[in-house]
Amino acid sequence: MDYQAAIEKAKEYFGQIVEEQLRRVEELKKPVEWIDYSQLKPIIIGIIGGDGIGPYIAAHARRVLEFMLAEELQSGKVEFRDIEGLTIENRAAQNKSIPDDVLEEIKKCHVTLKGPTTTPRKGDPWPNIESCNVSMRRYLDLFANVRPVRVPKEGIDWVFFRENTEGAYIMGSKGVNVTEDLAFDFKVITSQGAERIIRLAFDYARKNKRRKVTIVTKANVVKTTDGKFLEIGYEIAKEYPEIEVDDWYIDIMTAKLVDPKRRTQFDVFVLPNLYGDILTDEAAEFQGGVGTAGSANIGKRYAMFEAIHGSAPRMVREGRAKFADPSSMIRAAALLINHIGYPEKAKKLEMALDICGNYERKLVITGRDTGCTGEEFTEYLMETIQDPKLEERWKSYVEQS
Ligand code: IPM
Ligand code: MG
Repeated sequence: MDYQAAIEKAKEYFGQIVEEQLRRVEELKKPVEWIDYSQLKPIIIGIIGGDGIGPYIAAHARRVLEFMLAEELQSGKVEFRDIEGLTIENRAAQNKSIPDDVLEEIKKCHVTLKGPTTTPRKGDPWPNIESCNVSMRRYLDLFANVRPVRVPKEGIDWVFFRENTEGAYIMGSKGVNVTEDLAFDFKVITSQGAERIIRLAFDYARKNKRRKVTIVTKANVVKTTDGKFLEIGYEIAKEYPEIEVDDWYIDIMTAKLVDPKRRTQFDVFVLPNLYGDILTDEAAEFQGGVGTAGSANIGKRYAMFEAIHGSAPRMVREGRAKFADPSSMIRAAALLINHIGYPEKAKKLEMALDICGNYERKLVITGRDTGCTGEEFTEYLMETIQDPKLEERWKSYVEQS
């Protein structure tokens, strides 16, 4: 084996990656203003079905969204658009994580609600294209993945700020096999990338009168990149003296989340991409599983809202798609409503979701014919939203528990 040739090739490749990232750093240094939805008419909301159970649960979420924003729809303040073509079949046919024409349509919307999309992995019948979630986050610079998890009866009220464009995800499918035996992936943290997500977490804590921000890394081992993230975290924390700050390593953090005495003491979390991916699935489990958790992908110009789970192709194969739980997508819709400037409406929808999914549970989704269908659940939810006593009902459940 001629190692020398392999080394030269790898060096050249690494050189290109460094160049690309330095260009990215320069881009990140340019100031960008946050979009102001109050100034927009219409706010264009794209609905992306995705694949697997995606189109089923997206349709239910859309119905709820249209109902919640009925006045705005009527007055022309918001407009809905369907975006087709983000299916695994089309992505595979074009060998692109997001086909160009689809990306163009997405970019014409201010915000999107996206159903889950299949992420191919080695060995699948699909080409091993990059996850379209990951590409969309990067192409639209959706740097903040905000994932709330609330279980009022357990005293859990967490908000995760997962960095969404860097870390172990940044290179997507650009890892390299230097030889048959030696594989590399890359993990990147930039000062600008770390700073913007950490600042957003602290700003959120300040605005929402949250007590504490917890930084999660593995900086004792992954010293350079996580070390940078942690250092910048403590640096920024100094600008928010009223907010307590602490930091945990990801391993012990996953353990502390299952400790009922400790976990209620956590509040806002900020963490690099992969750790955020893992911890938010664990956290969602306390709320009833990933099927109940929504996720906001926020950038300064665009925002995308989605479920935190995958497309469950098996449910479709087994004819169970209509039993898929739409709660995650409807939670995502609530995050969308809040993000574009209607926090009262979002709160109402969340209360109804709590009542139907966690407290009253007149209908229960099991993912099979042992439970209700997504449509029946949505019907139940719509009735609950329209109850004039919604807030009293919600409060009495929370107080009882
Ligand atoms: C998520 C998902 C994605 C991720 C996958 C589908 C690429 O797990 O949104 O958490 O890892 O970010
Ligand atoms: Mg995940």
